[in-house]
Parts: sequence; structure tokens; C-alpha cells
Amino acid sequence: MNHILVINSSLSGEASVSRILVEDAVRRLLEVNPGAVVTYRDLGDAPIPHLTSATVAGIRAVAGTQAELAAQALSDELIAELQAADVVVIGAPMYNFSIPTSLRAWFDHVLRPRVTFAYNEGSVQGLLPGKRVIVIESRGGLYSEGPTKGMDFQEPYLKTLLGFVGMTDVTFIHAEKIGFGPEARELALATAKSRIAEAAMGAGR
Ligand SMILES: Cc1cc2nc3c(=O)[nH]c(=O)nc-3n(C[C@H](O)[C@H](O)[C@H](O)COP(=O)(O)O)c2cc1C
Repeated sequence: MNHILVINSSLSGEASVSRILVEDAVRRLLEVNPGAVVTYRDLGDAPIPHLTSATVAGIRAVAGTQAELAAQALSDELIAELQAADVVVIGAPMYNFSIPTSLRAWFDHVLRPRVTFAYNEGSVQGLLPGKRVIVIESRGGLYSEGPTKGMDFQEPYLKTLLGFVGMTDVTFIHAEKIGFGPEARELALATAKSRIAEAAMGAGR
């Protein structure tokens, strides 16, 4: 494990639970492998643009215009960061039962035909295999059990997006009930931190 890519997408700055836990994961991973290089991509502080009708061909077809070439160059840069990574740590808050739109824009740039996935005799082949992924999912409510379980469009969606490009070795770590008061928040942080310690041991080997 030489290279860690860290992707943050919370809009809550220093108050962000996912950012605190992402940093904890990086610290733990560096304990296991002190020589690893860490690359940060902050989609909350420095959002990448959403695709538009002027730019989409740069990613999904053949780039011709300046706008399409610029979108393709950004996609190339984001994919190169992923290709270089052995371990990817993603901070993914639940926003409206799914992921922040900034993170969705990132996926729109990195799920790219013939570059990160390909259709092969009718089936899809992910072209980014062999990476370990740790996803920190912060949530105001409770979705891992109980009546709102079916409203979790965050974890199944992330699992599908990552799996589509071959990233199937994914550990999901929840910090739930963040909106239930300070005690619930502290308990969620402590529980998530102990799971992160275990995941980092596995990812660091
Ligand atoms: C725009 C927005 C939408 C949210 N939607 C949900 C939601 O659908 N379900 C939920 O449980 N919490 C929701 N929350 C609460 C966040 O998931 C919670 O505050 C979490 O801690 C955010 O992660 P962060 O602390 O890393 O920013 C939402 C928060 C924001 C800002």
C-alpha cells in the first residue's frame, strides 16, 4: 500500500463528522504504512462542475470543443488519481437519502466508457480492480436497522457505482444518528473509530 486517495464531500467544514472520521482513517492507515503518499481531493471546498450539454461529450463521446476538451482533461486528472491509489478513503455524508451532488459529479467524471469500465460480450468489466476502499457514511438518522432501512439510497448506490468500475473490496463504516444530540454523536464517532482501526489494519497489509 503506497498511495492513499482521500475524497471528502461534506459541506460542513470542521464540524463534519465524515471529515473527522476520514482523517482518523488516514491516521490509522499511515500508522500501518508510514511511507504511504496521501492525495486529497476535496469536493466540498473545491467542487468540480456538473456535466452539462456543452461538456458531456468530453466524457461519454469524442471531445471536440474547448468545453468538451476541458471536461475530458478534468476526467483524466480524476481518473489518474484513482489509478494511482492502492487505498481510497471516501467521506460520503447522506444528503436527501443519497450522496452529495458534488460526489455524484465526481462519479460522473470517473465512470468513463473504455477507460474505467468496458462492455465485454454483453457484460460489464470494471477496469479499476485491486483497490481497497473505505467509505465513511455519516447520517443524521438511523438506516442500518429499523423502519427507515429502506430509505438508504446512499450505501447501495455507492456499492453499485464503485463495483461498476471494479472496486469491489469496499468497507462501509457508518456514523449514524448524528442528528439525535451530542451523546448520540459521540457514541457514533467512537463506534466508527473502532471500526476504522480494524479496517485500516486490513487495508494496510
Ligand atoms: C443537504 C442535507 C441533506 C441531508 N439529508 C439527510 C437525510 O436524507 N437523511 C439523514 O439521515 N440525514 C440527512 N442530513 C444530515 C447529515 O447526513 C448529517 O448531518 C451528517 O452528519 C452529514 O455529514 P457531515 O457531518 O460529514 O457533514 C442532511 C444534511 C444536509 C446538509
